[in-house]
Amino acid sequence: MASPEMMRQPEQRDWVAMERKYYQHTFTRNLVMERGEGVRIWDANGKVYLDLVAGIATNVLGHAHPNVVRAIQQQATKLIHTSNLYINERQVELAELLYNVSGEMKSFFSNSGAEANEGAIKLARKYGRVHRNGAYGIISMERSFHGRTLATTAATGQKKYQDTWLPLPDGFSQVPFNDLDAVKAATTDNTIAILVEAVQGEGGIHPASQEYMRGLRAWCDEQNLVLICDEVQAGNGRTGKYFSWQHYGVQPDITTTAKGLAGGVPIGAMLAAPRADIFEPGDHGTTFGGNAIACAAGVATIRTILEEHLLEHATQMGEYLGGKIDGLAKKYDIITATRGIGLMRAFDLAEPRAQEIMEHASERGLLITNAGLGTIRMIPPLILQRADVDEAIEKLDASLAAL
Ligand SMILES: Cc1ncc(COP(=O)(O)O)c(C=O)c1O
Repeated sequence: MASPEMMRQPEQRDWVAMERKYYQHTFTRNLVMERGEGVRIWDANGKVYLDLVAGIATNVLGHAHPNVVRAIQQQATKLIHTSNLYINERQVELAELLYNVSGEMKSFFSNSGAEANEGAIKLARKYGRVHRNGAYGIISMERSFHGRTLATTAATGQKKYQDTWLPLPDGFSQVPFNDLDAVKAATTDNTIAILVEAVQGEGGIHPASQEYMRGLRAWCDEQNLVLICDEVQAGNGRTGKYFSWQHYGVQPDITTTAKGLAGGVPIGAMLAAPRADIFEPGDHGTTFGGNAIACAAGVATIRTILEEHLLEHATQMGEYLGGKIDGLAKKYDIITATRGIGLMRAFDLAEPRAQEIMEHASERGLLITNAGLGTIRMIPPLILQRADVDEAIEKLDASLAAL
């Protein structure tokens, strides 16, 4: 039933109060976002922000990129949804592009990163059933993040995400990141897969070492295990390669991605190399996964990344941004460490004051995010320019000075 409140014009509505009333309290948020263009986003009061969060590493082409907008519009007028009972052209086109950028891996599309990882877990378990006496154990890393479903929560190496939901599904264990001996020691007859982010994102932007990634590949080959690389955050060009594992000269058996894949439209993908390409009809499915609109946006996003040389650009801008953050670290004692690769950047704080810094930045028109209480994280769109970096650093400098 329409109430007087519902009849009001959008600009007269109190969205914050309404959110408290109508939405479950899963997020703590006060900014109401209305529109975006490129690296900038405007709130409902008309205030503009330089957006170095990009939908949490998702709007890789920034906001309202014309290629993505056009692809969505054109597809919407032709065909929005078909289910997976039929072939849709955009889905096959997107799979073809991913085949080419991944080194000949075949796709299965879902709607999110967690769902892509669920698919990877199922595929690994099938591999165990077929090729390793029913082994189903998956070793993942401490400080990792793989999603919010029960299985991906069990794979996530952060207690704060797990404790409330015990008991979690069986078959998951975690070992310290970048420690090959720990993986070897944890491997048993029941192990089937190693699940790793080559660059840990939510954990605070920690790249794996070369020896580690190569060692994991060799260990999986030796023990007949499946190497799964979670590229939900680090994939889609963010690190300067299409997938971050491409910095290491290794090829995983399974890789997952989501976030930036369709430039902001919900999608996930689970890719299998020939060795792990063993799903058969009926093993896995989805109603929406690989939907025509999402895939049209994905095709436009990947083509734009490749045609506009955004991998090279992300490398250059990442170095420029990283250098500027190092400059701030020299100026402010509160910054204890800086890290990053491409356009995934972070710095650690001597005290747990990330929230305060984010608030100061937001007041000054800059959106940045955190990784825990004591780390600031930046995952801007790949279209970021030098002038944007200069502006962001100026605002960040002022935010640190205000502490
Ligand atoms: C590495 C990684 N894997 C999985 C996920 C879960 O993705 P989604 O939120 O789309 O389910 C995330 C989300 O932050 C992530 O960073």
